[in-house]
Amino acid sequence: MTIVRRMITRTLEQRKCKVYFKPCVFVLLFGLVCFSCEDGSDDVQILKPDGTPASYKELSAGRSTIFSSSSRAYDTESSWVTGDLATRFTDGDMLYDDPRESSSDPSTGGLGPLYVGYSCGSCHNNAGRTLPTLFSEGGSGKSGFSSMLIYIVRKDGGYFRQYGRVLQDQSIVGTVPEGKLKATYTEETFTFADGETYSLQTPHYSISEWYADSIRPEDLYISVRIPLRHVGMGQMMALSENELLKVAAQSNYPEYGISGRLNYVTEKGVRKIGVSGNKANHTDLTVELGFSSDLGVTNDRYPEEVGEGQMQSPHGLNGIQITTKEMEEVDFYLHTLGVPARRFVNYAEVKKGEENFYKAKCDLCHLPTLHTRSDAPTLLNGTRLPWLANQVIHPYSDYLLHDMGSALDDHLSAGLAYGCEWRTTPLWGIGLQEVVNGHTRFLHDGRARNLTEAIMWHGGEGAVSRELFRRMSKDDRRALLLFLETL
Ligand code: HEC
Ligand code: HEC
Repeated sequence: MTIVRRMITRTLEQRKCKVYFKPCVFVLLFGLVCFSCEDGSDDVQILKPDGTPASYKELSAGRSTIFSSSSRAYDTESSWVTGDLATRFTDGDMLYDDPRESSSDPSTGGLGPLYVGYSCGSCHNNAGRTLPTLFSEGGSGKSGFSSMLIYIVRKDGGYFRQYGRVLQDQSIVGTVPEGKLKATYTEETFTFADGETYSLQTPHYSISEWYADSIRPEDLYISVRIPLRHVGMGQMMALSENELLKVAAQSNYPEYGISGRLNYVTEKGVRKIGVSGNKANHTDLTVELGFSSDLGVTNDRYPEEVGEGQMQSPHGLNGIQITTKEMEEVDFYLHTLGVPARRFVNYAEVKKGEENFYKAKCDLCHLPTLHTRSDAPTLLNGTRLPWLANQVIHPYSDYLLHDMGSALDDHLSAGLAYGCEWRTTPLWGIGLQEVVNGHTRFLHDGRARNLTEAIMWHGGEGAVSRELFRRMSKDDRRALLLFLETL
């Protein structure tokens, strides 16, 4: 315990971003609420493919749990998606995956003039995380499309008028990309308590080929993001606001240096809890934003072409390039995706790994269980999905922001989130990322090359967990990793 305490003191001293400790009156109250609802709110029995009932731990998302561990595991509809719903799922999937072009064809056109990817699926291949070409090619300059989003901001927090918030590094013929990203890495080796070594690579980014005024490296911050997995999107949109408020009140563990908080976003004058994105700074599944900012496809919510009003004044096609009705099909597709069931839950080593997950206090942020609210989420064009209501879910996230230390600080604030604050990434489905996307890059910018590195990058509020993991024996660490592989 002394080691742990020393760690916390150090963490608190080093912390650049302030952490808020909330009154702990709520903790007691929440304990009661939590236990009373632990056993589920909806008694549907779900059968596994072998005909036996799925257990509590296997059912990642209640009736939306699917039993697949193939490369389609993130990209399969929930079993209740039948008949007309299945047609809508397929339509949404196609709008999501079919490459947009720079033509005026309403179903596939509208790409650019400036863009980052050419379809949602180009970055979220199989509804997962496309490996950024950046890693093998060293940047978006050499290989073109990278599947990463590049955010840029002035050191004082403001935006660059000629560029906006996202650097669009692709363009259609006749327009110049806003700039190109280059990435290099420096590597350092460390040791676990038992003497085994591991290494971490720190990314360094620079931008060249600016289309307008060159911005000096000392004048900007660059934050790079790899795509997020689409596991549990519908469940995330069905989270109960009341439960999130309780989780935030409960997230106060001074003995481990942990204190999470909710992000809030104000849109159209309404202040709402943010849940999606790496800084929980969006309240929806960003379909309209994605079409606009990532693909350059204008829509009712974002009717202006990206880059409009900037020096280049790129000439896009006029008018709305995708309708809200079509975007709702994409929203429908994302909401109705099934969540893969946990696998091998009763294997001895997996159970040991699960215990180690709790011993290392991972569960204080990667919260195993939450519940969806009783009213159904509503999609962009008004469709309601009652199947998502009242489900016990195992996202392994509290959807809160945590200060993750200076090494992960990107100096970019979003909503209430400071540079060092990140939303706890939901871990459901993480064990299948390699099967689905063929790589094991993790964390917001993909700097971690495997699960061990992802853990060893945890700093700030995650420093105690990291240290507890570092001190485990090789067998205990391996068991914990094996447990993560079953999620
Ligand atoms: C250029 C690559 C790229 C394209 C194209 C793209 N995305 Fe993303 N997507 C990302 C990245 C990177 C993130 C993480 C963003 C962040 O947190 O800053 C993300 C995050 C998301 C999230 C949040 C997931 C979560 O767990 O909170 C959703 C939902 C999403 N994208 C949907 C879409 C849709 C729908 C489209 C098409 C309209 C799309 N994306 C197109 C790269 C892309
Ligand atoms: C203080 C809260 C906190 C604790 C404790 C914590 N994590 Fe995390 N974890 C996070 C946050 C926040 C992120 C996202 C960081 C980022 O992307 O830069 C994250 C990211 C991860 C990722 C990468 C996910 C991905 O898909 O990119 C893994 C794996 C992970 N954590 C595992 C663990 C394990 C295992 C433990 C215990 C040893 C642990 N975490 C403890 C908050 C926490």
